[in-house]
Amino acid sequence: MTANRTFSIIKPDATRRNLTGAIVKMFEDGGLRVVASKRIHMTRAQAEGFYAVHKERPFYGELVEFMMSEPVVVQVLEGENAVLRNREIMGATNPEDADVGTVRKTHALSIGENSVHGSDSDENAAIEIAFFFTEDEIVG
Ligand code: CMP
Repeated sequence: MTANRTFSIIKPDATRRNLTGAIVKMFEDGGLRVVASKRIHMTRAQAEGFYAVHKERPFYGELVEFMMSEPVVVQVLEGENAVLRNREIMGATNPEDADVGTVRKTHALSIGENSVHGSDSDENAAIEIAFFFTEDEIVG
C-alpha cells in the first residue's frame, strides 16, 4: 500500500475543551502522521466555502456558525490508506453510532459538535487540503 494523505479538522467543541493533544495522539497511535497543522479561527467565507456541498441541508446554517464559533485545528495526515484509516479512528458521524475507542465515541458531544472532520474520499481529501494549505506548508 502506498502512503497517502487526508484532511482533518479538530472542531471548536474539542479545541474549547483543550482536547487537541488527546485527539492528535489518537491519530498518531492509529498510524497517521501529522505533516501539516495550523490553528485558525475560520472566517465565514471559509466555513461557508468548505461546507458548500451541504448548502441545501437543514443544518447548514448551524454548521457554519459552529465552525466559526471558536478556533479549529486544520491538519494534513499521512499514512497507508489515510482517508479510510482516519475515518476508522474518528468513528461514525453521530457519536451515538460510533465504535468504542474512536475519537467521536470518546470525545464528541453530538452529531453537530462531533469533535473532528475527516475527508470521505481521496478526491475530496485533495480538494480539502488545497482549501487550507499550500504545498510548501506540507512537510512529510
Ligand atoms: P463533518 O464530517 O464535518 O461533515 C459535515 C458535518 O455536518 C458533519 O461532520 C456533522 O458535524 C454535521 N452534521 C451532519 N448531520 C447533522 C445534523 N443532523 N445536525 C447537525 N449537524 C450535522
